Amino acid sequence: MPEAPFYTTVESRRTIRDFLPDAVPQEVLDRCLDAARLAPSSSNLQPWQFIVIRDPKVRQAANAACLDQMPAKTAPLLIALVTRRDTWRRNRDEIIRIFESRGPLRPSQASYYRKIIPVVYTTGPFGLLGPLKRAFSRVTSLFKPMPNLMSRGDVRIMAHKSTALAAATFMLAMRAEGYDTCPMEGFDPWRAKALLDLPRGAEVNMFLAVGKRSEAGLWWDRVLMPRDWAVREI
Ligand SMILES: Cc1cc2nc3c(=O)[nH]c(=O)nc-3n(C[C@H](O)[C@H](O)[C@H](O)COP(=O)(O)O)c2cc1C
Repeated sequence: MPEAPFYTTVESRRTIRDFLPDAVPQEVLDRCLDAARLAPSSSNLQPWQFIVIRDPKVRQAANAACLDQMPAKTAPLLIALVTRRDTWRRNRDEIIRIFESRGPLRPSQASYYRKIIPVVYTTGPFGLLGPLKRAFSRVTSLFKPMPNLMSRGDVRIMAHKSTALAAATFMLAMRAEGYDTCPMEGFDPWRAKALLDLPRGAEVNMFLAVGKRSEAGLWWDRVLMPRDWAVREI
């Protein structure tokens, strides 16, 4: 296992847009995927799926869905990172199963996963319940602190947030292994969804091009906003 210090890894991770053809070894990929699985997620529901594209025909179509961006075309490995907000019930059941395998479910675990999670994630047919839940939360919040009970749009944001954390963990793990990545949001979401045969409630969060950087891979020096735009202390 490589032992790049954390800050060296963070600082040397850059978006790479041109890759060498060298394959990414399976054991490196596996370690990075397993690191990504440890990312924090809302209610620990882990709403992500990394689709590792191996089939050359799917790959070609995925490159096109990525608008034939240079990183997609040159990377030896392309991964579609999918947000699965549709899996909350299955994953919730798995959490309860694991808790119960360790001993009796605590009342707080039971009420959170059996009562609160379904209220938050259920948005009704066509998401029609969502605006009512959101309005109820907003009005209650005028009188006491209240979490947003979530419209379908809010649930999407929640699931995409967690998935993006898995993406960040994956990219940093790749860097620690001496490999590079390019996250891509520039893609056709409808074609990507059809290509990967995703069910309703699943969406591509981003594509990840992976490989070793070529000499032409880094397009410019890092551009950073002033620190006081990014950090505020009150
Ligand atoms: C969510 C997200 C989507 C991105 N989409 C693209 C993309 O489609 N194409 C691309 O070349 N870079 C893409 N990038 C890379 C950013 O442009 C890059 O992270 C930013 O310019 C900072 O550069 P650095 O990653 O080298 O620090 C994306 C980054 C993120 C986080």
